[in-house]
Amino acid sequence: MASQTRDRGAVMITGASTGIGKACAMRLDRLGFQVFAGVRKDADGGALVETASERLTPVLIDVTDETSIASAADTVAKAVGDEGLAGLVNNAGIAVPGPLEFMPLGDLRHQMEVNSIGQIAVTQAFLPLLRKCRGRIVNIGSIAGRSVTPFVGAYAASKFAMEAFTDALRMELRPWGISVSIVEPGSIATPIWDKGTATADDLEKKLPKEAHDLYDPAMAALRKATNESARRAIPPASVAKAVTHALTAERPKTRYLVGRDAQIRAALAKVLPDRMQDWLVARFMGLPKGG
Ligand SMILES: NC(=O)c1ccc[n+]([C@@H]2O[C@H](COP(=O)([O-])OP(=O)(O)OC[C@H]3O[C@@H](n4cnc5c(N)ncnc54)[C@H](OP(=O)(O)O)[C@@H]3O)[C@@H](O)[C@H]2O)c1
Repeated sequence: MASQTRDRGAVMITGASTGIGKACAMRLDRLGFQVFAGVRKDADGGALVETASERLTPVLIDVTDETSIASAADTVAKAVGDEGLAGLVNNAGIAVPGPLEFMPLGDLRHQMEVNSIGQIAVTQAFLPLLRKCRGRIVNIGSIAGRSVTPFVGAYAASKFAMEAFTDALRMELRPWGISVSIVEPGSIATPIWDKGTATADDLEKKLPKEAHDLYDPAMAALRKATNESARRAIPPASVAKAVTHALTAERPKTRYLVGRDAQIRAALAKVLPDRMQDWLVARFMGLPKGG
């Protein structure tokens, strides 16, 4: 069945309801891949089906839920059979901003669970299918996995973890010819910005008065800087293009920086001493001096 419906192989993408995941699903569908689009709600799957070819299949998957991951892997395994999976795009992600001093540990764990542990859980479940046809893994990291800014420490930690997971997997899976790449976007225009602001609002309501006294001016500066970055964000199609290269090029790159902001930040992170970077970031974000 699988060979009759696809030309370029099958790919599984997590977090395909919106943003980068959706852009990847649409681009890979157009290119002739059989796309398994990971969503958490039936309605999101229905919306994708309306705009994609008949090859695209929505698959329910929550990357923090082992039963859901196993069931998604089983669905895909049955559909692709012995042909296996040509690609896995670990894209699902959230942003949990806030000062680390007061971040509730449950929120910190959830950030790591979705963006880091969940990606490995999904990778473990789909590797037997990738191994069948020397499939490729593409992890969606972030420039925040190379260069940290304050009050997004939890998010940055989750993306630094993805850098390490990617490097380790690339070396561990080399004997089977399974390529592993990481895509490191800068600011991309997706709903993650509004969702992150809503999460920050919720978190702020949980913070004690002391936290507000200490951090409100800095959090206000963060909001302003975030709005500015969101305003300059580039379309998610640019990330989908990098993902496509990682899945199809004869020699995929290990890392793909996407966006001028990501390229500049990566270059500065390489050459500038830590305290010089701290100073630049504080100035750029308009953080209060204080202390
Ligand atoms: N936008 C940027 O500027 C930017 C920059 C660098 C890296 N990234 C990374 O790009 C990836 C995609 O983000 P995006 O910007 O496209 O944001 P987005 O539009 O908010 O998409 C996030 C996707 O992840 C899904 N998701 C969230 N929690 C999940 C869970 N527990 N299980 C399964 N799926 C889950 C969401 O599903 P629901 O719709 O069901 O919530 C949604 O499909 C993330 O890893 C993000 O860190 C984004």
